[in-house]
This record gives sequence, structure tokens and C-alpha cells, in this order.
Amino acid sequence: MILVTGGAGFIGANFVLDWFRQSDEPVVNVDKLTYAGNYGTLKPLHDNPRHVFARVDICDRTALDTLFAEHRPRAVLHFAAESHVDRSIHGPADFVQTNVIGTFTLLEAARQHWSTLDAAGQAAFRFLHVSTDEVFGSLSAADQPFSETTPYAPNSPYSASKAGSDHLVRAWHHTYGMPTLTTNCSNNYGPYQFPEKLIPLMIANALAGEPLPVYGDGQNVRDWLYVGDHCSAIREVLARGRVGETYNVGGWNEKKNLEVVHTLCDLLDQSRPKAAGSYRDQITYVKDRPGHDRRYAIDARKLERELGWKPAETFETGLAKTVRWYLDNQHWVDEVASGDYRKWVETNYARRA
Ligand code: NAD
Ligand code: DAU
Repeated sequence: MILVTGGAGFIGANFVLDWFRQSDEPVVNVDKLTYAGNYGTLKPLHDNPRHVFARVDICDRTALDTLFAEHRPRAVLHFAAESHVDRSIHGPADFVQTNVIGTFTLLEAARQHWSTLDAAGQAAFRFLHVSTDEVFGSLSAADQPFSETTPYAPNSPYSASKAGSDHLVRAWHHTYGMPTLTTNCSNNYGPYQFPEKLIPLMIANALAGEPLPVYGDGQNVRDWLYVGDHCSAIREVLARGRVGETYNVGGWNEKKNLEVVHTLCDLLDQSRPKAAGSYRDQITYVKDRPGHDRRYAIDARKLERELGWKPAETFETGLAKTVRWYLDNQHWVDEVASGDYRKWVETNYARRA
């Protein structure tokens, strides 16, 4: 049995759904179901006895101890986090709570469980922490991509809280000998991504005939990775990663934001043409994100060299699949974009006009 946290969120749910396509091993899925978590995404598993869903906050040590004692997992895959940079600017407290205190609480519960295992069980146990490239800060156009040895320089409350969690994981290995692994990944995209993030937000706004809000000059660069490729990288690291190591995960797809939005508009123009004009006509430049990191780029050669992992999707194939998925699953977007989400849109975008 493996224990997954945040398995009702974007990447966690994709991971759990992929896991059951390839494995019979049971999963206990621990998720608080915040605004970003959606039990409906896991519908194909609702009647699967090998999938145990527990609505639990990772800050709740008692509930975690009970889950560890009951299920005795051989591994923890830690996805749960507050993940949206703009929300961390408006309200950093939840980010410190879940990303730092929550990770600390989970590490302690895992360590308690680990201490009860026999020597072979302890050696085989893994705590895999899913982190981000944002902990490395911002690059200029001429800088080399982030490697595993790039110094940490987080710039937003989100990335600072993730950096804090990475340091805790490192220390739990160094001090207690717990077999940890950390992955630092670039921007994911694909099915089931909450429509507050760039790609699903642009698709949803385009189809609704609303403005496509590009922050600042639209020249910020992100490296894009299809979520299925991130899931396969995590499975490889879990199976064969060297204990105590960190692995960068990236798609070798550096794109300026404006380029991404243009490509999305072009794909929508082909598959869902407007009565007149192009979706590009809806692009609107809005006030920039405070402290907006200029460029992220990932050197993922360690993962390729040591574990033979490479992304299967190109940006073109991944984005085409993603647009198709959102066109076919608009009911999913309608479901997650609740009243609370509309309040967030008002908070984030009203002040950018
Ligand atoms: P998400 O916001 O879509 O999902 C987060 C999930 O965690 C939700 O299901 C939510 O309910 C759950 N959660 C939040 N607080 C919790 C708590 N206190 N207890 C239990 N569950 C809680 O996030 P995502 O985009 O799927 O990201 C997953 C992980 O991957 C995060 O750790 C994030 O930092 C990391 N990451 C994300 C990206 C990306 O591009 N999305 C890239 C690199 C790394
Ligand atoms: O790099 C990995 C990170 O990628 C993850 O750790 C985070 O959890 C994830 O949210 C993502 O962070 P970003 O801030 O890069 O993603 P976001 O989709 O919010 O924004 C991508 C870029 O698009 C960024 O430069 C800001 C810009 N943007 C975003 C939104 C929501 C816009 O121009 N307009 C928008 O409306």
C-alpha cells in the first residue's frame, strides 16, 4: 500500500488515476478537499476497494497516526500543498500552515510509522516529496537552467513555503536517516487542472468570451511539462531514485507566456471557431504579479542519466490533448468553478484592470 497526500488535486489525482492503470497496489488517498481538491475527479475509483479515500488535513497528527497504523504504507507520496502563487500573495498564512507545518506533521507521522518497521521494512520505505522549480528563484535570459545544485532563492510566499518544506525533508533524511526523495518540477498542464492556473484559465475565459488576462508584458518564461510525464517521472524516482537525493523534472519546453496564449488561441480557432475573428482578439494586458519571476528553466539531465526518464509529450502534442480534454469536459470546469472560485476571480483580477 502507498499513501498519497493531495490525491484529489490536479497532479495528485492524475498520479492516482495513472497508478491504477499500471498497478494493483492499493492507495490510501489523504486530502483535505480544499477549494483545489475535487473528489469528483476520482470518480473512476469510487467503487474500487483498493482506493481508500480519507478526508484528512495533513496538519492533523492524530488522524495521520491512525491512518499510518491502520494501513502501514510502504511509501508516502506527498503532493498536498497550497499551490497557487497569486493566492499566496493575497493570503500567505494557509501556505505556511499546509506547506511548512503540514509537511512537518506528515514527516513526524511517517517517522513514527517508520520506526515501527523491521530493518528490511525501514530500508525499503520511501517518503517522496513533490516540490517545485520555483524554490530556485528567477533566471535571466542568459542564465543556465536550474540544476539540482542551484542555490535556493525563493521569491513568493508560495515558493518560500515550498523551500521550507524541502529543507525539512532534507533534514529528516540527514538527521534521522529516513529514506526520503525530493522532486523539483516545472509548470505542469493537462486534464483536471483547476482553472485558476494559466492554461485552463485561458481556455475557460476564451470559450466564455471573456478577456484573456496576460500579466505584465507577457514575456515571462516557464518550462511546461505534461502532467502524465510528471507522473511517470515520480514513479521512476519512487522505484529507483537514490535515497536522500533530489531530482529536477522538466519538459525542455521553455515558452513565453504570450506564446502559450497565442498557441492556445490558435488551437481553439481550429477546433471551436468563433462566429467572427480569433480568440487572440480577447487578449488583454493587465497589471503584473508582484515579484513576478521572469524565467524558470529546468535541467533534467540527472533524471535522464540515472533513471532513463524523458518526457513522452512535446508541448504541441500535450497542449493539443489538453485543449481537447477541456472541450470535452466543460462540465468538470463548471463543477469546480463554484461560488468561492468566482470570489477569487473578483479578488485577483479586479485590481489588475
Ligand atoms: P493543487 O492545488 O491542484 O492540489 C492540491 C491538493 O492538496 C488539493 O487536492 C487540496 O485539497 C490538497 N490539500 C491542500 N491543503 C491540504 C491539507 N492541509 N491537507 C490535506 N490536503 C490538502 O496542486 P497541484 O498543482 O496538483 O500540485 C501538487 C503538488 O505539486 C504541490 O506540492 C505543488 O507544490 C507541486 N508542484 C505543482 C506544479 C504545478 O505546475 N501545478 C509544478 C511543480 C510542483
Ligand atoms: O513552476 C512550477 C509552478 O508552476 C508550481 O510550483 C505552481 O504550483 C504552479 O501554480 C505554477 O506556478 P506559476 O505561477 O508559474 O503558474 P501560473 O499558471 O499561475 O502562471 C503561469 C504564468 O502565467 C506566470 O508567469 C503568470 C502568468 N499568468 C498567470 C495567470 C493566472 C498570466 O499572465 N495571467 C494569468 O491570469
